[in-house]
Amino acid sequence: MKSLFTTIAFPVETELRKEYRTKNGVGQTIWKKIRFFRPDYKFVRNEGISEIFVSGLNVHIKNNHILKDVNLTIPDKKITCIIGPSGCGKTTLLKTLNRLTDSVEGVKITGKILVNGEDIINSGTEITRIRRKMGLISQRPCPLPMSIFDNVAYGCRIHGIRNRRKLRMIVKHYLNAAGLWEEVKDRLRTPAVRLSIGQQQRLCLARSLAVEPQFILADEATSALDPISSKTIEELFVKLKQNYSIVMVTHTLRQALRIADHVIFMYMGEIIETGSAEEVFNRPQHELTKKYLSGAFS
Ligand SMILES: Nc1ncnc2c1ncn2[C@@H]1O[C@H](COP(=O)(O)OP(=O)(O)OP(=O)(O)O)[C@@H](O)[C@H]1O
Ligand SMILES: [Mg+2]
Repeated sequence: MKSLFTTIAFPVETELRKEYRTKNGVGQTIWKKIRFFRPDYKFVRNEGISEIFVSGLNVHIKNNHILKDVNLTIPDKKITCIIGPSGCGKTTLLKTLNRLTDSVEGVKITGKILVNGEDIINSGTEITRIRRKMGLISQRPCPLPMSIFDNVAYGCRIHGIRNRRKLRMIVKHYLNAAGLWEEVKDRLRTPAVRLSIGQQQRLCLARSLAVEPQFILADEATSALDPISSKTIEELFVKLKQNYSIVMVTHTLRQALRIADHVIFMYMGEIIETGSAEEVFNRPQHELTKKYLSGAFS
C-alpha cells in the first residue's frame, strides 16, 4: 500500500524565488532555491487488500458470554453492514476488531482475528499499530476541543509530521475526502464544536482518515444525525469504499438495504447469517433472519 505520508514526501520540486532578508538591520534581496510541494498532486491510496477473517471468536465479560463462536469475513473494499436487535453484540464485535474491548474489566477473548493475515489476538501484535489501521466512527461525533484544522492534523502530529505545508495538504485532502472542505475552508481556525452535528461527524471522519486507516469501523454513525447529514455520510461511505473496507453497525434496515454489499446478521451474540446483501436480503436462509427482516422483532 502506498502511504500518504511517504507519497507526499516525493512530489517536491525546486524553484528559484526572490526573498527579502535582513541581517544586522540591513535589508537585502536574495535569490534562494526553495523546495515546494506540487499542490495538484493526486494521492494514490490503499491499493493493497484490506480484509479481516474471524474464526472461533468468543468474548466473555465477567460471567457473560457476549460473542459466541463468531466466524465471519470482512471483504476487501466493500461496505459490510452488521445488523441485529439491541444487545446482540454488534458494538462488542466492532470493538473487538480493533481490540478496544481490551480495556473492559473482566474481558476474556479467545479465537482468531486475522487482519490482512496477521492474527491480532494471539501474535503479540502492537495495539497502536492495529488501531492505526482502523478508523473508528462512533454514534455521537466527538471532536477534540480544538480548531477544525487541529482536529484533522492531530493524529499526523502525533505520528511526527511537523511540516506546516505538509499538514495543510493533508488537512485539505481529508476534509475534501469527508466532503467538508468547501463548507469550512474559510474558518479552519475556528473551534470544531461550532460546527453542526452532521459537520462534526464528517470532521471526525476526516480526522480518522488522516492517519491512513485501511478499514473504517462505524458504530451507528448516522443515528444521531438529521436525514440530510445521514444521507451525506452514506454517500461518502459509498465513495470511500474504493479505498477502504467499511464495517458499519446499523439499526436501520433501510440504510443497510441502500448501501450494504455484504451483511452480517447477529442474534444474542451469534452470527445467524452472513453473505452478500443481495443473498441475505432477497433469499434469507435462516428463520430468524426472515423474521428480523420482516420486522417481527427489532
Ligand atoms: N462492559 C460491559 N460489561 C458487561 N456487559 C457488557 C459490557 N459491554 C457490553 N455488555 C453486554 O454485552 C451485550 C452486547 O452488548 P453490545 O453493546 O455489544 O450490543 P449491541 O448489539 O451493540 O446493542 P445496541 O444495538 O443496543 O447498541 C449486552 O448484553 C451488554 O449488556
Ligand atoms: Mg451497539
